[in-house]
Amino acid sequence: MTGTLKGLLIGCGFFARNQLHAWSETDGAEIVAVCDRDAERARSYAAEFGIPAWHDTADILSSGSFDFVDICTTMETHEELVALAVRHRVPVIVQKPFAPDIDTCRRIVANAAAAGVPVMVHENFRFQKVFRRIRDILDSGEIGELTFGRLSWRNAIDVYSNQPYLLKTKRFMIMDVGIHMLDLARFLFGDAGEVSCFTQSVKEGLAGEDAATILLRHDDKATSIVDVSYAAHRFPNPFPQTLGEIEGRQGTIQILEGEVLLIHSQGKQRRETIADDGRAWTSAPWIQIQDSVPRTQQHFIDALRRGGNFETSAEDSLKTYALAEAAYRSAEAGRVIDARNL
Ligand SMILES: NC(=O)c1ccc[n+]([C@@H]2O[C@H](COP(=O)([O-])OP(=O)(O)OC[C@H]3O[C@@H](n4cnc5c(N)ncnc54)[C@H](O)[C@@H]3O)[C@@H](O)[C@H]2O)c1
Repeated sequence: MTGTLKGLLIGCGFFARNQLHAWSETDGAEIVAVCDRDAERARSYAAEFGIPAWHDTADILSSGSFDFVDICTTMETHEELVALAVRHRVPVIVQKPFAPDIDTCRRIVANAAAAGVPVMVHENFRFQKVFRRIRDILDSGEIGELTFGRLSWRNAIDVYSNQPYLLKTKRFMIMDVGIHMLDLARFLFGDAGEVSCFTQSVKEGLAGEDAATILLRHDDKATSIVDVSYAAHRFPNPFPQTLGEIEGRQGTIQILEGEVLLIHSQGKQRRETIADDGRAWTSAPWIQIQDSVPRTQQHFIDALRRGGNFETSAEDSLKTYALAEAAYRSAEAGRVIDARNL
């Protein structure tokens, strides 16, 4: 694909604002139309971001005017919207969670693969600068073969004001934030099979869980713990930081607050502080997340142009969503579930 790629963004809600800012910084792509079934939302985002066209139906994909579509709706709509794009042979980037369960994820992937239409899941946490830096350190071999890791997301931000649908989501915390952590676990420690999980609903009145503790055994025999909670009171609030540690045979990386890495190797420790890119449109407390969105979208466009693989292609993401499925089934059954056998 050559020239500036023309995109349609579907879903002008809370998070799409970050994606529209990010598209304005993405080389080789521009959003030429937005769509929301709520026409007023589509109209107002088009006006705010200077986008030439807006629509209230995704059927506009049949017009042949788009090189890609960015789907920023909630997960229960993804199967239908990706299928629509696939029917019109338009490559897709679709927000996480990909779909509510592994069977739906598999149907989406099979349908896209049969038509040869590329699909990437918008999984931005691995595109945070702190995790790109950790990946580089691991690749350098400095801390040796990995043995253990912990990725921890614990805060009590009022997520429900911006995303009220989460109050009614049955598969809530593992799909909303756990999925980012499971993707990071695969990014850092490799694929995993056996999964053990406990879930909790701490806040009253939720349809689903707001905390989960997940234990993974990775293929290379490292173990990792993913723990997530929207009911952990800390002052100041650490949202939206992922903290934890990574242990190897020759060293350890601690991920501390303030995007600080404490690297222990060769009998010494050193501190690295990772600075976000300082974009004009990002604002506290969301900066670390917002900052990763242009990097995610640039990867999508670059890979699309090269005809190459997305890091978080829909197909590869099946392994992440199998871990999430295994976590729910483990919590329900009270035993270890092997994600490779689902
Ligand atoms: N990656 C991240 O860091 C991150 C952060 C927050 C939210 N998200 C994800 O982004 C997605 C969207 O979340 P949100 O909070 O912006 O949701 P939202 O409810 O605020 O916005 C979704 C919009 O999509 C529209 N819509 C739904 N179905 C449609 C259809 N068939 N055709 C056209 N428009 C349709 C709705 O009218 C709504 O305006 C979710 O999957 C959420 O998990 C990701």
